Amino acid sequence: MIEIAIMGLGTVGTGVARVVEENAPQIERKLGEPLRVKAVLVRHFKEGPYRHLMTDDFKDIEGDGDIRVVVEAIGGVDAAYRYTKRALAAGKHVVTANKQLVAERGCELLALARQKNVNYLFEASVGGGIPILHPLTQCMAANRIDEVYGILNGTTNYILTRMVRTGASFEEALREAQEKGYAEADPTADVEGVDAGRKICILADLAFGHQVSPGEVPMEGITKLSLRDVEIAQQAAYRVKLLGRAVRMPDGGRTAYVAPHLLPSGHPLANVEDVFNAVVVKGNATGEVMFYGKGAGAMPTASACVADVMEALQESPQREEIGWSPDAAGFVDPRELPSRHYFRVRGTLEDAAAAFGRVEVLSEGAETAFLTESMTAREAGLRCSGLDVLAHLRAL
Ligand code: HSE
Repeated sequence: MIEIAIMGLGTVGTGVARVVEENAPQIERKLGEPLRVKAVLVRHFKEGPYRHLMTDDFKDIEGDGDIRVVVEAIGGVDAAYRYTKRALAAGKHVVTANKQLVAERGCELLALARQKNVNYLFEASVGGGIPILHPLTQCMAANRIDEVYGILNGTTNYILTRMVRTGASFEEALREAQEKGYAEADPTADVEGVDAGRKICILADLAFGHQVSPGEVPMEGITKLSLRDVEIAQQAAYRVKLLGRAVRMPDGGRTAYVAPHLLPSGHPLANVEDVFNAVVVKGNATGEVMFYGKGAGAMPTASACVADVMEALQESPQREEIGWSPDAAGFVDPRELPSRHYFRVRGTLEDAAAAFGRVEVLSEGAETAFLTESMTAREAGLRCSGLDVLAHLRAL
């Protein structure tokens, strides 16, 4: 019998307990022994199927030599960070879906895990049920990774899809996403791009091997996005999606950011809808590889967590392929990254052409919506200074 503990019994923690229970035969076949949840750390005791496993004292887990893996499903940084450190220091593997903690402290926690000869695994922190971190660090290990980008937040993708498809208001669509267990406890992190921002930091850390700190990465969500621009894009065979991007710059630096983008409707990410996420990894040997699946929700996220639990138990010594240096130097302002830009201005096509030269017109009238040729955001900002700009988005 292999015993584990879960810290936190919210969406993810409950999902982990369910997967361990419901998929017991498959898990036992692969591990060679049954896997059992021995303890669940909660702040407040509550009735339910896991009542008999609950404790509110972390020492019950820390001091129990039979518990070999701890799943941290508390979220946030404070308690999650303290307990993760103590669990690793006590020689237990730790598995998590906590992207905030991994983005802010992952490098340090990995180093501690290495020192203690245990694993700190966090596949579920990016893309929920989609395997992305293992493929990035293992299957694509022979590549130089030049770019990682994608739809990294299920809640905002769900909201955008519902608004476009059913005409739901932003508030209605957000409420539905919350009811389905997709949103963070505080959905501001979802709609303001912070959740996707943490995930692109983790992807950048692992893709480029250097710390990319969330504080340096500009994060813009969908709260300022106007339905008018979404509709103009749709009619002109483009889609608006919230993307996280991490790019290796030609001079060896790296950049990352989150912002809404226009994508041509034929782009593989353009039809990724509802709660689905998709991540594109550009390797210098593979070219573009895309990973697609459910990026949020209890069971998909728990699937990744429990797979990490199983890996931690099978791996000995710990996985070495995660190269993640604390050296954060070399981060470049994403305004230096060239791309096409979408503008909607109060004015004519002539005004647009006078500022930008050749443009692709998406809509004309009292307002003109157009796409520029590729240029840095800094240059686009300078060129539009004489225009009455109503909206500005990046485009792929
Ligand atoms: N709130 C997140 C999302 C959950 O909507 O994608 C998974 O990280």
